[in-house]
Amino acid sequence: MREPLILRTGRLTLTPPDEDDVEAIRLACQDPDVQRWTTVPSPYTREDAERFVELVAGGWRTGEEYNWAVRDATGLVGMIGLSRISDGAAELGYWMSADARGRGYGTEAGCAVVDFALGPMRLERLEWHAVAGNEPSARLARSLGFRYEGTRRRGIRTAGRREDAWLAGLVASDDRAPVGWPVLDG
Ligand SMILES: CC(C)(COP(=O)(O)OP(=O)(O)OC[C@H]1O[C@@H](n2cnc3c(N)ncnc32)[C@H](O)[C@@H]1OP(=O)(O)O)[C@@H](O)C(=O)NCCC(=O)NCCS
Repeated sequence: MREPLILRTGRLTLTPPDEDDVEAIRLACQDPDVQRWTTVPSPYTREDAERFVELVAGGWRTGEEYNWAVRDATGLVGMIGLSRISDGAAELGYWMSADARGRGYGTEAGCAVVDFALGPMRLERLEWHAVAGNEPSARLARSLGFRYEGTRRRGIRTAGRREDAWLAGLVASDDRAPVGWPVLDG
């Protein structure tokens, strides 16, 4: 159990989402890309957003999961979190609201979370996985230093069906300079 932690970057503040964020979360999760590529319920209702905020509070209490709302000067622009925290490892996940994408926010928030996870939290390994073909997510993970580790056949269930999943990992001793991924060109 730990107190929710605030992370700050040049443009962003990361704090746990609360009841005041419910409508912004509900709106952001209407986006087809969030519904296509993440495990959020579809359709996504206000009750789903309320339940998510409660789950986040529970995750901070038990230490099993840390989620942060990503905020810029205009308000909530995304969500990022560490889930399945156990035995020195965790999984990194994120979404940015559609109108906040392509500005480097995902990378900026991701760097802060990775620094925290592999620094003060002393995790040894972070994992990322995504539906095979989710290039924006893969490019973000690669920009954080994650290395491609393979494709898990039918390894993920989103949008009501099982699909192949790309898997990548980052360990504390990696230098985090982006490396080539065979499934991404350029
Ligand atoms: C994945 C996501 C969080 C990226 O957020 P973002 O703030 O736009 O990311 P950034 O601006 O920091 O860009 C990160 C990298 O992705 C690349 N990228 C961003 N959008 C892209 C797009 N539409 N197509 C291809 N590459 C893209 C950027 O060029 C950058 O790569 P680079 O460092 O090699 O140049 C966002 O697209 C999103 O929310 N997608 C829907 C939800 C989702 O897929 N979540 C992940 C589930 S595993």
